[in-house]
Amino acid sequence: MSLFEKVEPVPPDPIFGLAARFRKDKRSNKIDLTLGVYKGKSLKIEILRSVKEAEKILIKMEKDKGYLPMGGDERFVQESQKLIFGEALCKTLKGKVFGAQTVGGTGALRLGGDFLAREVTKCVYVSDPTWPNHIGIFEAAGMEVKKYPYYNKETHALDFQKMLDYLSALPEKSLVVLHACCHNPTGCDPTQAEWKELSALLLKKKLIPFFDFAYQGFGRGLDEDAWAIRYFAEQGHEMFVAASYSKNFALYGERIGSLSILAKNEQVSQNLASVVRRIARVNYSNPPRHGGEIVATILQDLGLTKLWKGEVDQMRKRIEEMRSELIHALSGQFGKDKYGFLKRRSGLFSMLGLEGSQVDRMIEEYGVYLTRSGRINLTGLSEDNLPNILEAMIKTAS
Ligand SMILES: Cc1ncc(COP(=O)(O)O)c(C=O)c1O
Repeated sequence: MSLFEKVEPVPPDPIFGLAARFRKDKRSNKIDLTLGVYKGKSLKIEILRSVKEAEKILIKMEKDKGYLPMGGDERFVQESQKLIFGEALCKTLKGKVFGAQTVGGTGALRLGGDFLAREVTKCVYVSDPTWPNHIGIFEAAGMEVKKYPYYNKETHALDFQKMLDYLSALPEKSLVVLHACCHNPTGCDPTQAEWKELSALLLKKKLIPFFDFAYQGFGRGLDEDAWAIRYFAEQGHEMFVAASYSKNFALYGERIGSLSILAKNEQVSQNLASVVRRIARVNYSNPPRHGGEIVATILQDLGLTKLWKGEVDQMRKRIEEMRSELIHALSGQFGKDKYGFLKRRSGLFSMLGLEGSQVDRMIEEYGVYLTRSGRINLTGLSEDNLPNILEAMIKTAS
């Protein structure tokens, strides 16, 4: 008898579990719309040219593979903060923002979650729905995870008033996770006017914003997508930002992200930085080097930055094109109105408004893989596979 006889298996991860099922599926016409990765026209993840160029430089320049400090490569952290807050605001906030290089955006959320659970609160509020891993990450950090209203399934839009009413009743120092842009899974973001209202409410109620910033550049543009974060920072919030460079640098497997914490003053910032570094030290000690070196190399070289920005623009353009093609195809089949709501979406994902039971049938009977929430990755679409997706949608609609 095993010493571990009593270990019960946990259910597969809702997204990675589906991806594994997709890989095992033998059907040649299977279609993958699941994972949140940008795919080019080849329907594959492609390495960016800017990344390849940076790696050539790194091969020549790299002197050793020694440990990074607990908070990571300072060069990378500075560049990451400039990308998030913009250069001018970074100067204003100097001394008040602490940054750490993290193991992807996930690692940033967890590092921030560990800090907050230890020092501030054992409860976090996430949008309903949200990226499923938010729940797992904050629970693993020892928090109770509650949901605030966000998406109205009837109108296929953000239910802003309901969200506001719910948040206005939260106790002081409640932690609120906000998707800075390209809300995952709905694709619905607040407008600038709504962000302003949220900022005023969170300040008045002394709530703590924790921005998840995994898709900078995939919505409206690199600066435009950072608008809410920069606005909140200007308004004087003490706040957290978890940034990921998995998507916009296509560095998924390199596990590169950053955690930024904006505090009221330098002393508080230094105190909390010491705690965050300690949490990193007893967890993974210090982050891996390569991803941060690539990002820093690109962002410290004018030519490579220009190349990279162009590549981000191209990725965003393809997302928009695939959204238009999908809307066009759906209008052809179902009329102009039924899927008109998709026009007001931003980023890699859209929720099509399908029931879980229909999604199950689309996977089983047609090999069209999407998450059970009805979320699709737009860059999994192509001119060739769109007709098959539509057929699966039509034939499985009850
Ligand atoms: C909303 C959201 N936050 C964070 C992440 C984490 O990204 P990373 O792969 O960098 O850990 C993802 C990845 O899919 C995401 O969709």
